[in-house]
Amino acid sequence: MSGMAFVLISTAVVAATCLVSAAILLIAERYLANYGQCTIDINQGAKKLDVQGGKPLLATLMQQQVFIPSACGGRGTCAYCKVTITDGAPPIAPTELTLLTAEELKKCIRISCQVKVRNDLAIQIPEELFLVKQYTGVVERIRDLTHDIKELRIRLVEPAAIEFTPGQYVQLEAPAYGDNPEPVYRAYSISSPPDDTGHVELIIRLVPGGICTTWVFTMLKEGDEVRLNGPYSEFCLTEGDAEMVWIAGGSGMAPFWSMARHMREHGIRRPCTYFFGAVKERDLFFLDEFRALEKEMPSFRFLPALSGAENDSWAGERGLITQVVDRHVAAGANAEGYLCGSSGMIDASIKVLKAKGIPEDRIFYDKFT
Ligand SMILES: Cc1cc2nc3c(=O)[nH]c(=O)nc-3n(C[C@H](O)[C@H](O)[C@H](O)COP(=O)(O)OP(=O)(O)OC[C@H]3O[C@@H](n4cnc5c(N)ncnc54)[C@H](O)[C@@H]3O)c2cc1C
Ligand code: FES
Repeated sequence: MSGMAFVLISTAVVAATCLVSAAILLIAERYLANYGQCTIDINQGAKKLDVQGGKPLLATLMQQQVFIPSACGGRGTCAYCKVTITDGAPPIAPTELTLLTAEELKKCIRISCQVKVRNDLAIQIPEELFLVKQYTGVVERIRDLTHDIKELRIRLVEPAAIEFTPGQYVQLEAPAYGDNPEPVYRAYSISSPPDDTGHVELIIRLVPGGICTTWVFTMLKEGDEVRLNGPYSEFCLTEGDAEMVWIAGGSGMAPFWSMARHMREHGIRRPCTYFFGAVKERDLFFLDEFRALEKEMPSFRFLPALSGAENDSWAGERGLITQVVDRHVAAGANAEGYLCGSSGMIDASIKVLKAKGIPEDRIFYDKFT
C-alpha cells in the first residue's frame, strides 16, 4: 500500500470512528440518559420546583406553569426566552452564542430553550412573569378580514378574565396534528381592548406552510376549545401626552386596534397619526372602523397606503409605508414611534423616524418575525 493510500484510509477510519461515537452519544443522550429529579430555585427561593431532568429549561418551566416569553416556539432563533442562571448552568451551546451579547454572557443570561435541565439550577426571572397564566377558552367567532387575514374572538373560560395593557401579546397553542408531533406556541398580539376582560381577540395572517397559522386557517372552528398563555411584552402606550406616530402592515394592525379602542374608551386624546401599509386594496381592512374613530377623536389620523399596482380605484396614499411616513411626519424630537410588523418594515421605519428627529429610545416596537 502506498503512503498516500495509507493516509487516506487512516483518515477515513478516524472520521468514521468519530461519527459513530457522536451518533452513539446522541442516542444515549436521547434514550438512555436519566437526569433524575432536579430542583429549580427561582428568584432566590420565591418559588422552588421539583422537576424531571432531561428537557429544555423553557419547556420544563412551562410544564410547571412558569411562562417565559417565546416567539419561535423553542427553535433557538428569537432570543425572547432569556433567563439568568445564577447556579448550576451547563456550558454555553453554540446556538446561544449567536443570540447573546458579551455583556449578557457576563451577567449569566442564557437562552432557556437551548439549556437542558441536567442538574439543580438557580435562576432569576422578572417578577411580572409570575403573573403570566395559562388560559382555556372557546372560539366564539372567526371572521375573514382579508383573503389571508382572520380575526379570532375567544371567550375565556378558565380563568374567565385576563388583565393586560394594550400592545401586549399572548402565546396561542396549536395542538399536535399531521407531521407536527408536539403542540407549538406562537405569539399573537391581543387586538381587543383591555376592558373586555372576558375575551381575547387576535388578528392572524396566514403564513403558507406555517404550523400554527395552517391550523388556524384550515382546522380551527367556532366552538373549539383553545389554550393560550400570557400576557407578555413591554410594548405599550407611554404615560405622557407626546404626539404618536404608529406604523403597521398587515396583521401588525392587531395591537393598534386594541390601543385605538382603549384610547377612545378612556378619553385619551393624544395627537396620533396611524400609517397602515398594504400592497393592494384587497389587503386593507378596518377602514370604516378607523374613519369612525377619526370622527370621535379629532386628534387621531388614519393614513392607509398601498404599495402595489396603480390600476385600481384607490384614491388614498400610495408608496411604501416608509415613503408615506417621510412625506407626512414633520420634525418630531418630542414625538414617539410605535411600530408593529415584519422586521424589515420595522428596521426601515426606525431609520425614517430617526431621520425625522425622534430619538431611538422613544421608538417602541414588536417585531413579528
Ligand atoms: C411579539 C410577536 C407578536 C406577533 N403577533 C402577531 C399577530 O398579531 N398576528 C400575526 O399574524 N402574527 C403575529 N406574530 C407572528 C406569529 O407569532 C408567527 O410567527 C406566525 O403566525 C407564523 O407562525 P406559524 O406557526 O404559522 O409558522 P411557522 O411554522 O413558525 O413558520 C413557517 C415558516 O414561515 C416563516 N415565518 C414565520 N413567521 C413568519 C411571518 N410572520 N412572515 C413570513 N414568514 C414567516 C418561518 O421562518 C418558517 O420558515 C407575532 C410574532 C411576535 C414575535
Ligand atoms: S424560544 Fe425563541 S430562542 Fe428560545
